Amino acid sequence: MIDSLPKAELHLHIEGTLEPELMFLLAERNGIDLLYSSVEEVRQAYQFTDLQSFLDIYYAGAQVLQTEQDFYDLTWAYLERCQQDNVVHTEIFFDPQTHTDRGIQFGTVFEGIDAALQDGRKKLGISSQIIMCFLRHLSAESAMATFEMSKPWHSRMIGVGLDSSELGHPPEKFTEVFEKARQAGLKTVAHAGEEGPADYIWGALEALKVSRVDHGVRCLEDEKLVNYLVEEQIPLTVCPLSNIKLCVFDNMADHNIKTMLDKGLCVTVNSDDPSYFGGYINANFHSIQKALKLSHQDLYKLIRNSFVASFLEPEVLAKHLSELDSQYKELSNA
Ligand code: ADE
Ligand code: ZN
Repeated sequence: MIDSLPKAELHLHIEGTLEPELMFLLAERNGIDLLYSSVEEVRQAYQFTDLQSFLDIYYAGAQVLQTEQDFYDLTWAYLERCQQDNVVHTEIFFDPQTHTDRGIQFGTVFEGIDAALQDGRKKLGISSQIIMCFLRHLSAESAMATFEMSKPWHSRMIGVGLDSSELGHPPEKFTEVFEKARQAGLKTVAHAGEEGPADYIWGALEALKVSRVDHGVRCLEDEKLVNYLVEEQIPLTVCPLSNIKLCVFDNMADHNIKTMLDKGLCVTVNSDDPSYFGGYINANFHSIQKALKLSHQDLYKLIRNSFVASFLEPEVLAKHLSELDSQYKELSNA
């Protein structure tokens, strides 16, 4: 059921799909020396103790991405994985500052990613949107400068987001740039309550006026917040394998996604940085299914939420939902 049903992915950092094999290929193509001598050694290094220990390695890995073709190849490889996992719609994050701060032009990054997404639509039938994330460990001024720089591409992105080191960088730091983004017609999302407290989820909702919360697993520490999220059906884009790799939970049996679902929260399943966390979206579903004994109804609800929580236009959304519903019915009767 997990493998065969169509689904959407709403929390995916395109830089986090860089597989070690492609990292080596791009390093060679661009004449860059890597710290590792083999693909196996790279995979060995992917042992993290928290979010920051991951981010240090992740930003280092992204240095091999230099040309528009590199960003195209990265994105195309992800789309091929989408096809394997029956992802029919994806809303991907990219981190412009990771690239512009080392001298790569904004347009090089954006055009490479977007060209692959356009080919994904034509050749694979996968629809997509782009969300530009600000790095919260950098200043509000840097976020604003990035926003200004990105203006020529605003009509080709659906929204802005907020990622990187959460603790010590509350959402309120970025109130002004998010306000500008909303004025420009962009939607807003933000990572909150991954490592940071439930208060950061309130901050994302109240100061940044987000339509979705990325991660949000720490919401259960605040009953009032849970009630609000349920009432408003604010989606939470949960990333189970990421949470285990970054030690947010000790093991999958301790993950709170089933509790979140049972409380009526609009939760979705996503892969975050699949190359670093050991699996794409279906692997995430299989892992929680096994550890938390999810029912068919639970899985169906999580998959249905992925479309409901997306930024798809109402008519397109309705089509996806009716397709999903009829496939689920068929499977249930089989
Ligand atoms: N950037 C890439 N993955 C991230 C995550 N899980 N949390 C915050 N920033 C990120
Ligand atoms: Zn993320």
